[in-house]
Amino acid sequence: MNAEGLQEAAARERERRTALHHRLGVCTAAGCLALGSDRVKAALARGVEASGLGGQAEVFGTGCLGLCHAGPLVQVESRQAAREIPFDEARERIRDRLAREKRAAAERAFVADVMARARVNHEAALVRSRS
Ligand code: FES
Repeated sequence: MNAEGLQEAAARERERRTALHHRLGVCTAAGCLALGSDRVKAALARGVEASGLGGQAEVFGTGCLGLCHAGPLVQVESRQAAREIPFDEARERIRDRLAREKRAAAERAFVADVMARARVNHEAALVRSRS
């Protein structure tokens, strides 16, 4: 294939991808493959087909994504525009997110408080044991 053919193939591929809303790249390099990424990829492909999203989403294999210890890895590319989300759903998502962040902050504060008290109690016990 010459340079012109390659450019035409690239243009066709770009055109094909513009029709897709979601691309799910499953690492199929050795590390993730050893952890079952081929089964993950097959399950995702079945899920896409079963949900009727075949024309809008694709599942494909990638090379190593660089986090082999966390595999099997799935990389999600999504181009779902915010305008496609109904206003009420967007508002609900924002509320949920804020509530989760508030709960997480409260949990962190609680753990820090418990750790601080434990340190104080530990230091007090040391002082008592030395006196
Ligand atoms: S082998 Fe999958 S991230 Fe490296």
